[in-house]
Amino acid sequence: MHESSHTETPYTALGFYHKISQLRADTWNALKRDLGQLVRLDDEGRARNLVKAIDVKMTRLEIIEDYHAFPSKEDFRHLWSLFDREEYVLLEKVVKRLVRALISESYRRRHVDLSETDAGAEDLETLDALAQLRHGHPASNSSAQPYFELLIVDNLSAQEEEVVREAFHSLRRPEDRFVYDVVTVRSFEDALIAVLVNPNIQACLIRYEFPYKSKYNLSALRNYLEGLSEKELEYQTEAERSILLSSMIHELRPEIDQFLVTSGDVEATASRDIRHFNRIFYRETDYIEQHHTILRAIDSRYRTPFFDALREYSKKPTGVFHAMPISRGKSVTRSHWAGHMIDFYGINIFLAETSATSGGLDSLLQPYGPIKKAQEYAARAFGARQSFFVTNGTSTANKIVVQALVKPRDIVLIDRDCHKSHHYGMVLAGAHVSYLDSYPLNDYSMYGAVPLREIKETLLAYKRAGELHRVKMLLLTNCTFDGVVYNVRRVMEECLAIKPDLVFLWDEAWFAFATFNPTYRPRTAMHAARTLCDRYRSEAYREEYAAWKEAFDALDPDDDATWLEQRLLPDPDTVRIRTYATHSTHKTLTSLRQGSMIHVYDQEFRQRVEAPFHEAYMTHTSTSPNYQILASLDVGRMQAEMEGFELVHAQVEAALSLREQLYTHPLLQKYFRVLKNSDMVPSEYRESGVESYYDPVTGWNQMEEAWARDEFVVDPTRVTIAIGNTGVDGDAFKNEYLMNKYGIQINKTSRNTVLFMTNIGTTRGSIAYLLDVLIKLAKEFEYRWEESSRPERKIIEHRVHSLTRELPPLPDFSRFHAAFRQCSETPEGDIRRAYFLSYDEENTEYLRFDNGELQAEMRAGRDVVSASFVIPYPPGFPVLVPGQVISEEILHFLQALDVKEIHGYRPELGLIVFTEEALAAPPET
Ligand SMILES: Cc1ncc(COP(=O)(O)O)c(C=O)c1O
Repeated sequence: MHESSHTETPYTALGFYHKISQLRADTWNALKRDLGQLVRLDDEGRARNLVKAIDVKMTRLEIIEDYHAFPSKEDFRHLWSLFDREEYVLLEKVVKRLVRALISESYRRRHVDLSETDAGAEDLETLDALAQLRHGHPASNSSAQPYFELLIVDNLSAQEEEVVREAFHSLRRPEDRFVYDVVTVRSFEDALIAVLVNPNIQACLIRYEFPYKSKYNLSALRNYLEGLSEKELEYQTEAERSILLSSMIHELRPEIDQFLVTSGDVEATASRDIRHFNRIFYRETDYIEQHHTILRAIDSRYRTPFFDALREYSKKPTGVFHAMPISRGKSVTRSHWAGHMIDFYGINIFLAETSATSGGLDSLLQPYGPIKKAQEYAARAFGARQSFFVTNGTSTANKIVVQALVKPRDIVLIDRDCHKSHHYGMVLAGAHVSYLDSYPLNDYSMYGAVPLREIKETLLAYKRAGELHRVKMLLLTNCTFDGVVYNVRRVMEECLAIKPDLVFLWDEAWFAFATFNPTYRPRTAMHAARTLCDRYRSEAYREEYAAWKEAFDALDPDDDATWLEQRLLPDPDTVRIRTYATHSTHKTLTSLRQGSMIHVYDQEFRQRVEAPFHEAYMTHTSTSPNYQILASLDVGRMQAEMEGFELVHAQVEAALSLREQLYTHPLLQKYFRVLKNSDMVPSEYRESGVESYYDPVTGWNQMEEAWARDEFVVDPTRVTIAIGNTGVDGDAFKNEYLMNKYGIQINKTSRNTVLFMTNIGTTRGSIAYLLDVLIKLAKEFEYRWEESSRPERKIIEHRVHSLTRELPPLPDFSRFHAAFRQCSETPEGDIRRAYFLSYDEENTEYLRFDNGELQAEMRAGRDVVSASFVIPYPPGFPVLVPGQVISEEILHFLQALDVKEIHGYRPELGLIVFTEEALAAPPET
């Protein structure tokens, strides 16, 4: 190896972990550029500088490439030897080929031998690179054998490493379903870095003795390595160390298939916690056995049972004698008018359109075959105990879960700014609703999320009133539309200390992708549920709880303040983990629209919920579910298990580079202020004190800390930009500027913000386009100001002032009227009764607030009560629900709103409210 890589101060390339793949690509390109200049240069002084720069770049790349199979360590030795011999022309040629092979990903399809200077091989890479440029993806993307990398952890010498690599290469057969290459690392820490920086790793073989420490400085990864002390590890046996490594790899990348090769003490290994190993091999086991076992493991993730069944079905000749004319394209192929539908969609979609539940297909309503299998795989992928596919979006998934668990009059605690499907779900289920208020972000007309203290206070109020037994469920949105994410585990832990059988429904419509990133995953419902379940079962927890309880009882347990001030722990003898999550798979992963999933981690499911869940599922599921949606959910799950880690990482990278530009570009900053963590999470909810994940000097290295500790964090892939300084409101900015002028679609605005969401399909190119558009718009606003007359400037200033200073405070939930409440001490209301009471016309009347009519009634002492949902867009949550008393603040907010779309409000009539007589009538029993 080249000298300089050892003499440099510890290089922090890995400190840029969040942007490692961009850094990798950019550094290779920069190296290629430097070499290109060097070979054409005749100025010696500049040449010396360039050689130095090339040395630095190669050193940086060598560290990164140490964790990748291509270029191999052998390839790198070749690069260094050319460099040392000053054969720069040849070096440039090799680097060019290497960069082409990386860009075109040709190394995934064939062996790229960098030592050969064969023009034919070069041409292949050039063709691949051209195909990539032309089509946006590598040539023959779908037909090639999928490629992955096998990580081997073993303290091997360079020669031994080559032998092992060759041994695996020699086993390749054309008929293998997959092809793989080998990366070797020599230490515990290096293994963890490898799985973090190299998404191609799909399998890991942990062999024999290896030291703990990496030769690199890993400060950037300290959060992942936290709690591990080197000393402790030094005393571990080989088996203990391997098992610990496997559990840490599992925590970072649970999808990776892990295998242990052990040399000794077989029985001792087998009696330990080896659950993360797919299989244990003993020293004598041969490579062939390992090879086949690895391929089989990968295959079990790669399989898509329902998609495969549907493809098979579509190939079979069938006569259609049921009511589905479009099936097999019959109604359109011979049509004189509708044939262009086939031209557009192609024939396959029609061949796959069926209502058959036989012939190898399955029934969503009673799955027994490939749908059942596909759902089981989904449960594995998302860490659930059971998963269910839903073909009508999370709007339906939410109603299914609520109906399955909530009986009429059960109390549900729910955030008021949740999605409307929940409010309607409450009406359908007959729940008595106790609304929780999220903290407001008045400056941006949006809400954050519900503080834990507010949830605990509400639960304690029920306890005091003797009504806690009626509280069935806590329903929260994780993450919110704007990207505020809960500390799910902490919320569940503390609530379970007050009510040990509380059911949690986490609406993760926007968070399915989070499962596939190690920073995000601990804040998902399924991960938190599993972690808590394991924790409460352990002896160690019993001891922790006993000590905590003693200390707690010594305070004043009869005082609510004690419960509010202390971090609470649930009693392991009574606690039950009952957690549900709903995902709009279609929002953040690959799936056709409306493809959603319900994930369950409920210790009571089998005994108490399965039957009602089935009924609820029947209530809401079409008897003609769309098979294409189901197949896309199956493929989406497979893709997430195979490359979710890579895609989500790239998404985060893209979002971070967008944010970075917005933080640092002077003109952009003038008009577009990107909201940081501290803008969206008030300091009392940020224990870590982290204000922004980004620091101009150290880069993006504050995210893990905030995500590990804080009550709330912001998902950086959702970029909210305050646009008040443009003088244009969110809605107009979205339609007139972004959509009409530049064809950029977004779906969320507030009065003075717009939200740019990235997703797993966002490319560096699309980020560059967006930045380009924003710069053009900023210039446009700049010219507008320069060219405006004095009166025009006054108008602009007035608009900017209104959008940045005159923001009506967001109103809290007022209260349900007494007519809809059972208990005067607690806040819950019977929303269903209020909803249906409005069906009889004589129970309601309209009152206008723009002419003071409604205000006059309020001043005269009347409780004016809404008879409907009133939902302005934006912000898109109900300002009023049926049965809710209208408050001054709500009226003030409605009057100040300058949006055109308010559902449930007709300006010419006013608000629909209950008559006083209707409210006076005794409730039906
Ligand atoms: C928080 C939340 N939950 C549920 C939904 C409904 O999801 P779907 O569109 O899949 O029905 C949405 C839709 O925007 C949402 O924002």
